Amino acid sequence: MLVTRQKPLRRFWYPIVPSGRLTDAPFPFTLLGTNIVLFRDGAGRPSALIDRCCHRTARLSQGWLDAGNIVCPYHGWTYAADGKCVRIPQRPNGDPGRNIAVEAFHCSERYGVVWVALEEPLAPIPDWLEETDPAYRRIDQFYEPWNCAGLRLMENSFDNAHIHFVHRSTFGDINNPDPSDPVIERLEYGFVARSDVPVLNNEQQKKNLRDEGAFTVRHITAHWYMPFLRRLHIRYPSGLDHIIITAATPVGDGQADVAARLQPADAARGNQWFEVLSWQGRTPGRTRQITGLREVAPGRFVTSRPVPVGGNWKTMLRLAKGSHLMALPVYLPPSPQSGRPGVPVAARSGPMLADTFLLQREARGGPAWLTSTAYAVLAAIVAVWLGLLTWALGLAEPRGEARPRATVASQWPPPVAPA
Ligand code: FES
Ligand SMILES: [Fe+2]
Repeated sequence: MLVTRQKPLRRFWYPIVPSGRLTDAPFPFTLLGTNIVLFRDGAGRPSALIDRCCHRTARLSQGWLDAGNIVCPYHGWTYAADGKCVRIPQRPNGDPGRNIAVEAFHCSERYGVVWVALEEPLAPIPDWLEETDPAYRRIDQFYEPWNCAGLRLMENSFDNAHIHFVHRSTFGDINNPDPSDPVIERLEYGFVARSDVPVLNNEQQKKNLRDEGAFTVRHITAHWYMPFLRRLHIRYPSGLDHIIITAATPVGDGQADVAARLQPADAARGNQWFEVLSWQGRTPGRTRQITGLREVAPGRFVTSRPVPVGGNWKTMLRLAKGSHLMALPVYLPPSPQSGRPGVPVAARSGPMLADTFLLQREARGGPAWLTSTAYAVLAAIVAVWLGLLTWALGLAEPRGEARPRATVASQWPPPVAPA
């Protein structure tokens, strides 16, 4: 699933940054492919704006804070927490006039985290009453990027069958690999799954649980909150509660698997190569990726690993057969300089084109003056180069007296020497 293409995902709350990390500097983040900037207003309340100045599109996150407002680093336009422009330094008294603003998003702070929803939320941030109960304490764990689809992570959270294998070195019991099925109850914004999972009680856990038994049981109440949030409540026989909140905040698409169906099914037979080529990436240390295709049924192929489909990457399906080099785009970013729109990731069909149409798609278009200027510069370089070459050849000629020209006898046959 490409998260940026699922518009309803914009209507949920996502935890963006631990509160302690949002201090006195702008904090940039990409949520569902949208670049946003977070900062605190004069009263310390968090705020989230689009990370793009409405003047000349500079990134506000590269600016600074001034009395709870964010200052654009380019010309100093200043925005309040609600996105309204409150100062344009180049105008008399800095008066921005009315109706100048950047987009502001829903922003809230709960459970030691700042949350953002890009559009009107469909569901509230869940109420977890333990947060205000002194019998419980919150321990913040990790905050880090994971190269994983959010739903895959959610799936794992409700998958009791993995426990005895993945966690076999701690509490998993590989001799008892088949836990009973959970009882699932649908809720308005997800579901709750209840299950009892017997596990090993290792030495460390015996201390934690104050339970000396060789085995214990996890009484699990696991909530799924659409789309990428879960709360795992484990109650042990000793009465101890362990609650784990896991959130997978969707940053962007990044990568996708590609499936291709050829007609006729044997169209790729005898190819020199058939692959997905990704190039022009700006991922540090990685600018090109060639991904093989595996035939899973006659004429049906899938990529052997995900391919890049975001940012500056270009990705196409490419077939070389005989003297033909053919291609079909998978993802191409927009090219404003040459007036080419982007090609988003989507199901598409059609004849394959000569691959040069995609490799050199910026070769045409753009302003005529730029083309003329480029050719003029090129012609000047060639002229200079030819001039230098001529001059260098002249230097190589020996100097001084002109050499006598060699002459050839014009009489044939030549006179015979006297005997
Ligand atoms: S681009 Fe932000 S003030 Fe000009
Ligand atoms: Fe696990």
